[in-house]
Formats: sequence, C-alpha cells, structure tokens
Amino acid sequence: MKKIRLGVNIDHVATVRNARGVSYPSPLRAALLAEKYGADSVTIHLREDRRHIREDDLKSIKSRLKIPLNLEIAATKEMLRIALKYKPPFICIVPEKRKEVTTEGGLNLNFNKIFLKKIIYKLKKNKIRVSLFIEPNLKDINKAKLLNADCIEIHTGKFCNLVNESKNFSNELNKIKKAVLLADSIGLEVHAGHGLTYKSAKILSNTIGIKEFNIGHFLIGESIFLGLGNTIKQFKKNIK
Ligand code: PXP
Repeated sequence: MKKIRLGVNIDHVATVRNARGVSYPSPLRAALLAEKYGADSVTIHLREDRRHIREDDLKSIKSRLKIPLNLEIAATKEMLRIALKYKPPFICIVPEKRKEVTTEGGLNLNFNKIFLKKIIYKLKKNKIRVSLFIEPNLKDINKAKLLNADCIEIHTGKFCNLVNESKNFSNELNKIKKAVLLADSIGLEVHAGHGLTYKSAKILSNTIGIKEFNIGHFLIGESIFLGLGNTIKQFKKNIK
C-alpha cells in the first residue's frame, strides 16, 4: 500500500511572527526545513484578513520551495486573482468566516455554486489541481464531482475532537470511511485534515483511500518541543 503523503501547514509560524509584528520566525525558513525533513508538500492559507500568512510569504515560498505548495484560499475574486498570479500547483478552496478562530467546517457547496464552478474552471485551465474542503458527507462528495474538482479534503475536526476528548469516535470514523470510499470510487483524490494529532492521524491512516494529510496546528506546536524535523519524522512514522 502506498504511503499517505504528509502536507505540513506552516500558518502558525506566521501567527507567532505576527504576534510581535517582527520578521521572525520565518515561514519561508519553516517551509524549507519541512521540505528538508521529508514533508511531501507545504500548505499555507492566505486568509482575507491576513492574520497569519501574507502575500509576501506566498511569493517567497512559491519561488524557493521545490516540493509542491498547496495554497488554501476562500472562493473570492481577490483570492482567484492572487492564485492566478502565483500559480501554485495545488489550491484548496476553503470556507472563511472573519470571526472564526480556525476553519470551522467544510464548504457549503449549495452557496455560490456558479462562482465556485467558475473558479475551479479557471484554476484548472491554469494547470492548478483543485481540492474542495468539505465535510464527510456523501451529498457534498457528489457535488464536488459535479463541480469538476480534482480532489476533496475531508474536514476531520469533529473526529479529532472526539479522539482528543477520549469519546466514542466510531460514528464519525464510519462517516469518514464511507465518504472516502465514495470519493475514491468516482475519481476524486482524497485528502484529510484539520485538528489532526499523532493519535488521530494514526487511527485515520488505516482508512484505505486517503492519499494525503494536511497537518498544521498540532505539528507546529509539537515542534517547539521536538523540533520540526523530529516532529515530521514522528508523523511520517504514524501514518505509514
Ligand atoms: N486542511 C485545511 C483545509 C485547513 O484549512 C487547515 C487549517 O485550518 C488544515 C488542514 C490544518 O488544520 P490544523 O492546523 O488543525 O492541523
């Protein structure tokens, strides 16, 4: 069985930098270290309010990184313009609310359908692989296919919260498994992310069909204690 790829999300390196309004710690340095220590891709989320990653980070990381850059954006005209300016190989379209602490749920694929379709079309025309961040819900998977996405990323937040709180997660895990099965069977590449820790990533890595995990907050936090290289190595061990 092929190994699940590990995408390292470095947004929170920028969160720490921005807390002081200085130039360090550098997200570019983190991206290049993640690459050196075996990350399969690097993910950054350019939020509308620029609370962590900024456009200059996107520019420097895109120009220096050799592994694929996965840019997360909201479905807006501004973000489409930026995506087409830098042309990262992967884009993940995510919902965004100004007041949320983090991306709280998957995209509402009934809302703004025409614009979503247009964005996906334009990105794909520019040879960018497009993923939609959605809940593990069968209707949304069929809708993602109709919108012509290449991949879906399943929001694992609920599952991870249950694991963290040592609650029964079997219903949520089953939902994810069914979602992966359907997506895989209709030709959507399946990614998963949000809230993943060593433990939740290890449990989910037994789900056949998941091709990639995108992990940020826990991984960057753990790097304070172990260093980025050791943390990436530990995750890679857990998800093989
Ligand atoms: N995948 C997507 C689409 C995200 O938006 C995020 C961050 O919000 C993640 C993965 C990573 O989540 P976390 O930082 O909780 O690991």
